Amino acid sequence: MTTYLQQLNNLKEKAIQDFKKSSSMAEFDAVEIVYLGRKNGAFTDLVKQLKDLPAEEKKEAGELTNRVKTELEATLKKQKETFKNEAWQKALEEEKIDLTEPTYPTPERGHFHPVTTLMRDLEDFFSSMGFVIADGPELESDYYNFTAVNIPEDHPARDMQDTFYIKNHTPTSAKASAGTWVMRTHTSSVQVRAMQKHGAPLRAIFPGKCFRNESTDVRHEHTFYQLEGVVIDKNINLSHLKGMLEATAKHLYGPETKVRLRPKFYPFVEPGVNGEVTCFLCKGVGCRLCKNTGWLEVLGAGMIHPNVLKEGGIDPNLYQGFAVGFGFTRLTMLKYGIDDVRLLQSGNLKFLKQF
Ligand code: PHE
Repeated sequence: MTTYLQQLNNLKEKAIQDFKKSSSMAEFDAVEIVYLGRKNGAFTDLVKQLKDLPAEEKKEAGELTNRVKTELEATLKKQKETFKNEAWQKALEEEKIDLTEPTYPTPERGHFHPVTTLMRDLEDFFSSMGFVIADGPELESDYYNFTAVNIPEDHPARDMQDTFYIKNHTPTSAKASAGTWVMRTHTSSVQVRAMQKHGAPLRAIFPGKCFRNESTDVRHEHTFYQLEGVVIDKNINLSHLKGMLEATAKHLYGPETKVRLRPKFYPFVEPGVNGEVTCFLCKGVGCRLCKNTGWLEVLGAGMIHPNVLKEGGIDPNLYQGFAVGFGFTRLTMLKYGIDDVRLLQSGNLKFLKQF
């Protein structure tokens, strides 16, 4: 009897200690199985010894065992509950929202300028046709902007572009030529740079900012964008140029858009053309926007002049090429129906938020 009661007592104390140590619901459950589990629990094992006790002790020992078991069950239940409440309380504490905390409006998110959006779109479009994207400086030597593209010094063709000449500029790179410097008047300034760098065959676009000494009005700005494209290879001709222009126009303004090319003089191409697309507003019928012609001028282009190829180190007897300069600011205005070019650089949020 004494050993039985001792065992009972030990079991009780050990169980209570283990309950106390539990720090998660899973641990409580595990301890419960160890002590109170019906099949192999420590209690069940102990009860099995009851039958070996003398008859007169059996009753008392049995009752005592039951009492201890009920007590333990109750304690465990209580501890489990307290644990649950505490955990819950802790979670609540962590989630607490301070209603008195001051709030701040979420900062407004910006977005791309329409010129940037369209530029990215066209860069993707030309990349998909195998063009590389090249770059050139905005502050450019007179040489690359004019002389290299067949506009020699003192040639009247220089008067076609009102140029910002830069006084007293010392080039930082040793490679850059001394001499006169200008804010580039067109992206054609990158043509010879790209030829010298990459050679032929070449398929590249050069998008970027250009500058001219314009008095500003709804159609003129001193700072504007162009996107130049050149393709140089064997047996390139004007029909390749037209095909590329048609694909671009359709991509920009829809599948019904047509392209019309008419002769125009540019010193760096021969023959040279200006390119017009069907007016996106009236679809070619004639309206205010296209001054009733049904056409809108968007580009200059032509077959690259042999002098320019030579300047770029390419043999004009082996290679031909075409060049096109899109008035990129113009393309953007047409795409989005913007009627005043000055808005694009105004920094006017009322305007910009529309895109
Ligand atoms: N650079 C010319 C301009 O700005 C456009 C052009 C580019 C014309 C390429 C022909 C070929 O007016």
